[in-house]
Amino acid sequence: MTVMQELSLDDFISPAQVACLRRPVAEAEGLPGRVYADPAFFELERKKIFPRGWMAIAYESDVAEPGDAVPVSIAGWDFIVARNRQGDVKVFHNICRHRSMTVLTEPCSKAQTLQCPWHGWTYDLNGRLIATPDIGGVDEASGKVSAEQPGIEKVALGLREVRSATWMHFVFVNIDGKAEPFEDFIRPVHERIPEHDLSLLRFSGLTTEAQFDGNWKLAIETGCEDYHLPWVHPQIGPRSGVFRGERGGNTYVSIASRRETEALTGDTLPMFPHFDGEKVGDDGLSREIVLFFIVPNAIVSVLDDHVVTNIYYPMAHDRTPTRRAFHFIGDAATDDEHRAAREAVRDSWIKVGEQDFPMVREVQTKHAQRDELGMETRFSAYWESAVHHFQNLVVDRLQA
Ligand code: FES
Ligand SMILES: [Fe+2]
Repeated sequence: MTVMQELSLDDFISPAQVACLRRPVAEAEGLPGRVYADPAFFELERKKIFPRGWMAIAYESDVAEPGDAVPVSIAGWDFIVARNRQGDVKVFHNICRHRSMTVLTEPCSKAQTLQCPWHGWTYDLNGRLIATPDIGGVDEASGKVSAEQPGIEKVALGLREVRSATWMHFVFVNIDGKAEPFEDFIRPVHERIPEHDLSLLRFSGLTTEAQFDGNWKLAIETGCEDYHLPWVHPQIGPRSGVFRGERGGNTYVSIASRRETEALTGDTLPMFPHFDGEKVGDDGLSREIVLFFIVPNAIVSVLDDHVVTNIYYPMAHDRTPTRRAFHFIGDAATDDEHRAAREAVRDSWIKVGEQDFPMVREVQTKHAQRDELGMETRFSAYWESAVHHFQNLVVDRLQA
């Protein structure tokens, strides 16, 4: 009999490579290519990263009304996100308790129950098993069919619920149930921008969907530095006048910048009130923009007049679909007066994404080759400290 060995970080990254990554950013070497290019490493992450912490899987607006439910697949895990009759969001593993069929295959609305398509086991929107039709078979004397069977206790066979939390329009899950309380996990984000009143934000209904043809880590790394802006996104304007990469504990890495011009915001949209309506500070630079990369897969980009949120869906080692949602302040999120301005903001972000996708696609093809050639990667200490923080944070999670 072959005993399957559980893979660990050491199977992919040598202690010497970890030590090189742990050096100060100017001398550090980045993660080896196989952590982006090897499906076996993605499987390691599937077991060691995604189930252990908090992971974004959906938007609350995906299940806007009681009775709405959607299937979500992410990082090798399958969920049902539902809004129950009381209006609460619930998340379940999308696995029937009978013989493991996918219970929900398509989004539904106005549902009272969720019925498995294989043998009809039926669950309510709190996950309780409420019917097992025909399970007891036919009483040949009476011809009656029984929906009960001794030993099948419905109370013990509900859909398996997943620990979940909602924040900033996101639905987060913690699969293993052992992560810190969500409020503790997300607190560093609030502490980084204490003056921003995030409660003023409203979802505009504007969303975009796209796909990175690359590893989820590469998709994050392409976003958490401003080094590439002059070459890839020249429309954003001159280099950032002030820039820093940061790390918020085990919760996020972020980049914060102030620019001479800010091409991603409008002139007519209301700003967060603490800016007093001034688009630039006393030094002539834009208000600080902070992009939080909440590890592993949620992004919150905070600008002076809007907030963009992303969910990355790691689906394979080389495929990462992404969804984006746009939020504005107060009535400006939905009124007619600001419609054109909102759509202009959305279009600016679409353009940025389309400029990044080819970079990710090309780099993904190089990671296996560079390992074969023994080539490491290096960082700009000024521009790429958040990339360095992110790679360290990934290793921290895998070593935990
Ligand atoms: S597998 Fe779901 S009812 Fe049989
Ligand atoms: Fe970019």
